[in-house]
Amino acid sequence: MNIAVFCSGNGSNFQAIADSVRRGEIAAKIALMVCDNPKAFALARAKKLEIKSLLIERKNFKTKEEFEAGVIRNLEKESIELICLAGFMRLISPGFVQRYRNKILNIHPALLPAFKGTRSIKDALGYGVKVTGVTVHLVDEKTDHGPIILQKALEIKENDTEESLAGRIHEIEHELYPQAIKLFVEGKLNLAGRRAKIE
Ligand code: GAR
Repeated sequence: MNIAVFCSGNGSNFQAIADSVRRGEIAAKIALMVCDNPKAFALARAKKLEIKSLLIERKNFKTKEEFEAGVIRNLEKESIELICLAGFMRLISPGFVQRYRNKILNIHPALLPAFKGTRSIKDALGYGVKVTGVTVHLVDEKTDHGPIILQKALEIKENDTEESLAGRIHEIEHELYPQAIKLFVEGKLNLAGRRAKIE
């Protein structure tokens, strides 16, 4: 199975997925890393990992539709069957979701449906919750909303800062995302409405 990983920034989840593929834990190939930000460290990671990357910037297209059509052309060229959003800080349009229905995964640094959006770690800390975590879910037309594949919780400590909490969240992400991808690749996920059952 050919996978594409989408990144906008550091790409530590991309790295974790690539490492897991390399260790032979996921029977798939990362055929493409798609990046919308020329400054993203994920680009340097792709080079080092010898994974093909596509830098495609929204500003070079008139509309979001044209931008996404450009992305889709590249995905089709690589026969991509699974898209993993890994810190891709751009909303995917309904048309894109339809084209890859139930084939797009996302990782989110909170226990959805709590703390949706792009500042979840800060928001959870600021809200004062005692427990937060990580969610891997399928992407549907609504933001941070699709069926949940895996979740893992962690406790927030009294002396946690945004940085210390982010560090522990990232550690969990780097284990949870490859696990979820493995389940998908091995065809072990069965959807019953919103509920993703694991065989
Ligand atoms: C990750 O923590 C991911 O959960 C989060 O961005 C970070 C990317 O880190 N995603 C979101 O907040 C999506 N709303 P990375 O570039 O090092 O993988």
